Amino acid sequence: MTGLYDSFQRPVNYLRISVTDRCNLRCVYCMPEDGVPLLRHSDILSYEEIYDIARAAAGLGINKVRLTGGEPLVRASLSRLVKMLASISTIDEISLTTNGTLLAESVAELKAAGLKRVNISLDTLQPERFQSITRRGTLADTLKGITAAQDAGLNPVKLNMVVMAGVNDDELNNFAAKTVTDGWHVRFIEVMPFAGKPPAESGFFPVSAMKQRIESLGKLEPVLHTAGNGPAKYYRLPDATGTIGFITPVSEHFCYQCNRLRLTADGKLRPCLMSDREIDLKDALRRNVPAEDLQDLIRQAVAAKPRAHHLAEGCVPQGRFFSQIGG
Ligand code: 5AD
Ligand code: SF4
Repeated sequence: MTGLYDSFQRPVNYLRISVTDRCNLRCVYCMPEDGVPLLRHSDILSYEEIYDIARAAAGLGINKVRLTGGEPLVRASLSRLVKMLASISTIDEISLTTNGTLLAESVAELKAAGLKRVNISLDTLQPERFQSITRRGTLADTLKGITAAQDAGLNPVKLNMVVMAGVNDDELNNFAAKTVTDGWHVRFIEVMPFAGKPPAESGFFPVSAMKQRIESLGKLEPVLHTAGNGPAKYYRLPDATGTIGFITPVSEHFCYQCNRLRLTADGKLRPCLMSDREIDLKDALRRNVPAEDLQDLIRQAVAAKPRAHHLAEGCVPQGRFFSQIGG
């Protein structure tokens, strides 16, 4: 067998790289109002260190990477990292998850460096609500980022909406309608409880209820083949050029098809988003170990992937906030 497989025979070919734990927003489902204790700059991997890890991982079979944060675009010269990663011949897709606020000014450079696709967080189309969900953002900035990404040809641009009962669930059908009128690709995500916030206060709104609401607009037809490495299930409304995806981290396990590892900004490999287990690559890198030793650690992380998480039973990882792992 070539490539990486975990103990449950799942192929692992996808690495999510958090390049910073910092963010210019404070979304209610992601961070506490006062922010989180930040990593020291000296603990954050340099682009050269990230490159070394990506190269070692690519040698084992990782062929897709996604840059995440915090907000990845608050880190200076991200396009330099994209270019370095694009030079690794066996990596065939580099994508980015961003809140979009800083995207318009850098998208051309990122695209030229080799970026293929972007996912942009957008939880509301109402300016005031946008401010209260993100606690400091401006809707117009994110909309500008979305248009810039579409104009730059980073298609399909996917828009991620975290749906919260009583917060933005009344906008579900507005977003769904945009798949018909504007060709948007929207993904609706069940809110996951995070460390420090009890599940009961997170505004959980199940995908089953989302679907029921959206079907008042028309029948949702399943779409079989769409670009992406993720756990979303895709549908289309009648006459829509865009798609509707649903991501059910809580109500329905997609662990059985999990293909990913996560690298935190301070150089820890996390076998699973929902488990606090981490394997320290930074320490190995800074001891200048040979690439084979890095690869052994990556194999260990793959072998440590648990079969499934236990969110639905109320087990929430306590170690880090989402902004520190990259979602
Ligand atoms: N629940 C669901 N998704 C989350 N994200 C961050 N925090 C949560 C959470 N508590 C995801 C969102 C956001 C991306 C950066 O991470 O999709 O757009
Ligand atoms: Fe920042 Fe994204 Fe977290 Fe919002 S969800 S606070 S934009 S990292």
